[in-house]
Amino acid sequence: MKIEVWQGDITTLAVDAIVNAANESLLGGGGVDGAIHRAAGPRLLAECEALPQIRLGVRCPTGEVRATAGHDLPARHVIHTVGPVWQDGQRDEPALLANCYWKSLQLAEKLGLHSIAFPAISCGVFGYPLHQAAQIAATETVAWQRSHREPRRIILVAYNAATYKAYQSALAAQGQPIEPPPSPLLPSLDLGLPPAAAH
Ligand code: APR
Repeated sequence: MKIEVWQGDITTLAVDAIVNAANESLLGGGGVDGAIHRAAGPRLLAECEALPQIRLGVRCPTGEVRATAGHDLPARHVIHTVGPVWQDGQRDEPALLANCYWKSLQLAEKLGLHSIAFPAISCGVFGYPLHQAAQIAATETVAWQRSHREPRRIILVAYNAATYKAYQSALAAQGQPIEPPPSPLLPSLDLGLPPAAAH
């Protein structure tokens, strides 16, 4: 399998897990975090609130992961991770962002999941430079897929054309040029994924 890139709203994907770019409180926010909580409904927040605080106000430290159910989402699970806030690239940001991808994949494998979709973690509010983040996303997911069988379907979700193009070039640099979306005549592997959005 190759790493897939799909442009659209991650909350619509009927996969085993979608990854949430959260903050350390896990109590919701804007961006993809807000979209996921809106689509999942109030039971997601209730489940997050019930997770233990490892220190005041922190349920998930930066670079770590927590899993919840998907509730009203089409996805079965949400894997919450907290990306680094970009400062100057000298504060462990690359390693922390790589951990978000690697630990999400480890948790998905542990849960026996077969498909996982990632947003562009830290590329919004947290200000991570897009191309550097895309390189890390491509490097970690390709390395995982080369050494693990599950989750066998890994999707990088771009919310805009710039992110889609950044993933395209980052994966090409990993020797994985993105294949064009399957021809409408060819039945795609149906995991309930909507056809690739026009981009
Ligand atoms: N589907 C897919 N991707 C999305 C969606 C969506 N519905 N909404 C936003 N995105 C994209 C953004 O365009 C960006 O590329 O997700 C990427 C991550 O942006 P943010 O959601 O701002 O996340 P991040 O930069 O990691 O900042 C996290 O923002 O929302 C708060 O509570 C969150 O404090 C945390 C911080």
